[in-house]
Amino acid sequence: MFFKTRRDVFGLDIGSHSIKLIELKKGKKEYKLKTAGIKLLPKDTIIDGSIMDSTTFEETVRSLLAEAKPSTKFVALSVSGQSVIVKKINVPFMTEEEFANSIQWETEQYLPFNIQDVYCDFKILGESSEIQGQLDVLLVAAKKDLVDDYQNAVRAVGLEPLVVDVDVFALQNMYELNEPLSEDKIIMLVNMGASFTNINIIKNGLSLFTRDIIWGGNKVTEALQKNLGITFEDAELVKCGKPMEGIDINEVSFIINQEIDGVVNEINRTISFFNNANPNDVIDKIVLYGGTAQLRGLVDALREKLGLVVEIGNPFNRIIVDNSFWNRGIQNYALQTAIAVGLAIRRLGDR
Ligand SMILES: Nc1ncnc2c1ncn2[C@@H]1O[C@H](COP(=O)(O)OP(=O)(O)OP(=O)(O)O)[C@@H](O)[C@H]1O
Ligand SMILES: [Mg+2]
Repeated sequence: MFFKTRRDVFGLDIGSHSIKLIELKKGKKEYKLKTAGIKLLPKDTIIDGSIMDSTTFEETVRSLLAEAKPSTKFVALSVSGQSVIVKKINVPFMTEEEFANSIQWETEQYLPFNIQDVYCDFKILGESSEIQGQLDVLLVAAKKDLVDDYQNAVRAVGLEPLVVDVDVFALQNMYELNEPLSEDKIIMLVNMGASFTNINIIKNGLSLFTRDIIWGGNKVTEALQKNLGITFEDAELVKCGKPMEGIDINEVSFIINQEIDGVVNEINRTISFFNNANPNDVIDKIVLYGGTAQLRGLVDALREKLGLVVEIGNPFNRIIVDNSFWNRGIQNYALQTAIAVGLAIRRLGDR
């Protein structure tokens, strides 16, 4: 969304837990992984999607660039969370050009922000199935200060941002690159990070519903920290399954499961909301991405409570990945690259 590009870019996913970099090379048939890397961000460098400590942020991106060595300075970024609105709206029939000219007043009523404070983009989806003579339009708006902050932050390390996308769309692009289109199947894509859980429900290459839940792995780590009286760093290790002296594994599981219950209920609410708005559409399966998809007990809890097929996705399913990447341990963070992979395929003036 937002900006068009005719150049190759690499994807830079700025998460609150880590920054991920993916560069792909398009071959005749498939994409090939060209560059990959990840760098952890110290806690509180990014809070609620905003860069709080730009010095640490810049140092981290610099060291990621020095290690991964992407072949270009042109980059695709993405934003998510409360500063981003994605909404399907209905408008009278008009051409794309006409809509572009009237976007200001067509969209103002749908935004909880002042129109001057946001960048807007849109995609005409086609004739509305609900209201005759109207068009369905997917409207995207992101707060200018957030987008500008992200762009300025990467410019400060010598990069040139050409695309600013939205996490849920990068997630969809990544999925569609990797999985064959199964006609009329309704897939709920869920990317679970440290701060956010991005959801995009798709069908036949179109997004039916998106939502960012303000929940991520940090919530689990904080619950462990508080209840066990340990540091955040130790709580991270315990969460990821590392045994620690004096820590009862049953208690750990109990705390983790409580947090899982919370997010599963929230996902369930999202599904109910979707079902009410789309009574003829039934979700066929859930596919999980992001670091928190690996949380112990999560997949089973989702299967049990939602009664749906739940799978862990593979962002490199249809991408050729040389042995050298596996030797350097890309399998340890593959799930976390979902958004960066989706950003890396943005090019050629696509939307
Ligand atoms: N094996 C594991 N078990 C449980 N949680 C894990 C595991 N590995 C990583 N995580 C968690 O995954 C999260 C990081 O995932 P990811 O890289 O997708 O987040 P992010 O993109 O940095 O965050 P966000 O986009 O939400 O700001 C952290 O909370 C981390 O603790
Ligand atoms: Mg993320």
